[in-house]
Amino acid sequence: MRTPMIAGNWKMNTSVSEGVALFRTIRDTLSEEAVAAVEVVCCPPFTHVPTLATEAAGSSVMLGAQNMYFEDKGAYTGEISPGMLADVCTYVIIGHSERRQFFNESDEIVALKVAKAIKTGLRPIICVGESLDIRNAGSYVPHVVAQVKAALSKCSVASADALVFAYEPIWAIGTGLAASAGKAQEVIYAIRQTLGACVGDAYAQDIRILYGGSSTDENIGRFMAESDIDGALVGGASLKADTFTAMVRIAAEARG
Ligand code: 13P
Repeated sequence: MRTPMIAGNWKMNTSVSEGVALFRTIRDTLSEEAVAAVEVVCCPPFTHVPTLATEAAGSSVMLGAQNMYFEDKGAYTGEISPGMLADVCTYVIIGHSERRQFFNESDEIVALKVAKAIKTGLRPIICVGESLDIRNAGSYVPHVVAQVKAALSKCSVASADALVFAYEPIWAIGTGLAASAGKAQEVIYAIRQTLGACVGDAYAQDIRILYGGSSTDENIGRFMAESDIDGALVGGASLKADTFTAMVRIAAEARG
């Protein structure tokens, strides 16, 4: 059985004090039953992570970062190493479409980052997804399958918990136009099949695959009803504590 995950990607939002307030509200609102049934992750900006690590200690809410570099240390001004993150968080988002689009992250860079994260003991949340042009051209499944294979091309996976995938169609991110549950399931099923070929069927059945793109408390129930969808990577709605915690509750009830 895969434990569902609701992960918030705060992107470049909130001051440190706003982030602490948001995190505390999320942490203190969630019931023990909900966090026992669903893994809850918050991925704030780097500047917030050490403070929130203190807030998260002893709670069930996990922390993640939004990016990292693939070298251990050295003259890489502005970058954060996996080892720096491993001290203060559990997860790291890798290959988000905004990084691929605005910071020229190639499949090759994503693969290097995934391999280094796993080697360091960080759990990557690996993002894949197609643009609207690729969706309209009908080649979205092979596109996403190629991204998955590329992301795993430099790592060895020793447990299903070592990584998480997130299918985030770019046309659904921040648009209010979430994919239908059926469309998301179609691609996520293909991702799971691909994982079987890459890391073996036993792990593939246990690796969590999330949906991301305009997910809210109004549509998470429909995604959770699909057999291969294990939760959501949430952008905008993760900045609203009541919406985010409602999503966790709905995901817990869906698999309860
Ligand atoms: P939205 O939920 O705001 O569409 O963002 C999704 C996302 O990019 C999460 O990583």
